[in-house]
Order: sequence, then C-alpha cells, then structure tokens
Amino acid sequence: MTIRDFLRFASTQFARSEIYYGHGTDNVWDEAVQLVMRSLALPLENNAIFLDARLTRDEKALLIDRIQRRVESREPVAYLLGEAWFMGLPFNVDTRVLVPRSPIGELIQSGLQPWLGDIEVNRILDLCTGSGCIGIAAATVFEEADVDLSDISEDALEVAQSNIVMHGLEDRVSAIQSDLFAGLEGQYDLILSNPPYVDAEDMAALPDEFRHEPELGLAAGGDGLDIAHRILEKAADMLTPDGLLVVEVGNSWVALQEAYPELPFIWLDFEQGGEGVFLLSRQDLIEWR
Ligand SMILES: C[S@@+](CC[C@H](N)C(=O)[O-])C[C@H]1O[C@@H](n2cnc3c(N)ncnc32)[C@H](O)[C@@H]1O
Repeated sequence: MTIRDFLRFASTQFARSEIYYGHGTDNVWDEAVQLVMRSLALPLENNAIFLDARLTRDEKALLIDRIQRRVESREPVAYLLGEAWFMGLPFNVDTRVLVPRSPIGELIQSGLQPWLGDIEVNRILDLCTGSGCIGIAAATVFEEADVDLSDISEDALEVAQSNIVMHGLEDRVSAIQSDLFAGLEGQYDLILSNPPYVDAEDMAALPDEFRHEPELGLAAGGDGLDIAHRILEKAADMLTPDGLLVVEVGNSWVALQEAYPELPFIWLDFEQGGEGVFLLSRQDLIEWR
C-alpha cells in the first residue's frame, strides 16, 4: 500500500465515522492529510512526490492504529501525533494541555494592530498558558519582549517549558506556576489569555474528542465565567499605564457582557474564524472600577 492508499483509506474511515472536527481542521480530507503525512514526518504541503511511495510494515501498523484510535476512541489528531500548529509554528502537545486553536493567534500575527498603535511592548503575560502557544507566538512577533507563560497546572507548564526550549526562547520566555495573578510580579504591557470558559451546559454536551483534554483547561463554573470574573477584578493592577488586556471567553461572551454592562468591551473580529475575544485597555478597567 502507498501513502495515497492510506490517505484514501483514512478519508473513508473518517467520512463514515462520527468524529468531530474542532482541533485544527474542519473536514475529512485535511484531517486525513494531517494524520497520515505527519505520522510519517512528511510535509503537509508540496508532498506530491511522496504519494506513490510504499510504506514499511511498521509504518503501516502505526497508521492503522492511529486511524482506528481517531475513529473509535475519538482521540484528536494532535494528541496522536504529539504535535500541533499555531500561528504557523509547531508545538509539542499531549493530554496535559489543550490542543492550541485560539483565534488570538490571528490577532498576534497582526501585531495587535490597530489596537496597540506605537505602544512599546517590553513585557507580555500569557495567562493560563497551557502549551505556551499564545505566549511563544507573541514572543516571535514582539522580538524584544520578555514573556511570562503562567498556568496553575505543573503538568501543563512542563509542556510549555518543552516548547520554550524547542523554539530556543529560554533567554526571554519563562514558565511560571501561578493561580491566575497570585504568583506573578510587576506589570505587563500586554496580557493575553485563553482561560477556561466552558459553561456547565456546554461541558455536559461536549463531543468525545474534548474528553481527552484536561477538564481544568475547559470548565469554568455554571456560566463559564468563574475565571473571567477573577481576571477582570485584578487585571488593571497587572497592566502598565498603556497596557492592553485580551481575553477569550468563546460563547460565554453573551453572559460576560450582561454581567458587566458598563465595561466598554471591544469584541474582536477574525478572518480565520472564532469569536468571543475581548480587548480592554488598563484605562477602561480603571474607569470602570
Ligand atoms: C483553555 S486552556 C488554554 C491553554 C492555552 N492558552 C491555549 O490557548 O491553548 C486554559 C488553561 O488554564 C489553566 N488554568 C485553569 N485554572 C487556572 C488558574 N486558576 N490559574 C492559572 N491557570 C489556570 C489550565 O491548566 C489550562 O492550561
């Protein structure tokens, strides 16, 4: 059997299954290409030269096992591969962290313009960092900035640290254990956060793929806002005078807006999909308090 045969086989298996696409791809073909090509350490693009190559016995066994696990135990492809891509950058991932997928990546790629203007960015916090994807992506765009990646989970921080090392950023990116802001010092020009924000109703209805992810990274109380409330309460103290706060709350955005009618949330638009990310300046937060 060739790689082309496996792409066809995986596509058929996925099309006949109930799998949910929400961890990096949104269709059968992209999911099959990602699983098959990356399991063989081959590129996702410009790979036509390999399609008619035959596979070794071990490679065939590996692919069959992974296709089966994707369909039967509904493991996300990123966990099967141990890698995910965020803002075009590779990240180590496993079940200690969520699979990176935040639309904040698109915002970082744009250098947070036009919101940031010409404000100098010296210090960035990725609060609730998981794999470290948001903070590390920010470090590649803001090349002079020091970046703290913080999470309450030691397990997640081990993964984040491995990604700091993989990207060669040990000199200016640090992984710090902290319950939100409790263990952090000083102020930041930018606080970026994709915290847990799934409400109880959505938690109960999540597709099986999400059950492989750590619950600590998803659940945030009845209305999904337990963590968002705590961030809003303290963020102004942790921002420099021109600092900005960017937080993803997904479809809990309606409940958040209702809870704080007097806060001037800017809800960001994304070309590549995603919603429920707000931006507030320190000034907005101070005036509201
Ligand atoms: C939605 S995941 C996001 C991971 C990563 N930022 C991303 O976009 O892929 C949320 C993360 O928040 C962490 N977390 C949960 N409660 C926390 C708390 N009280 N303080 C700090 N981190 C927390 C979880 O361990 C998890 O890694």
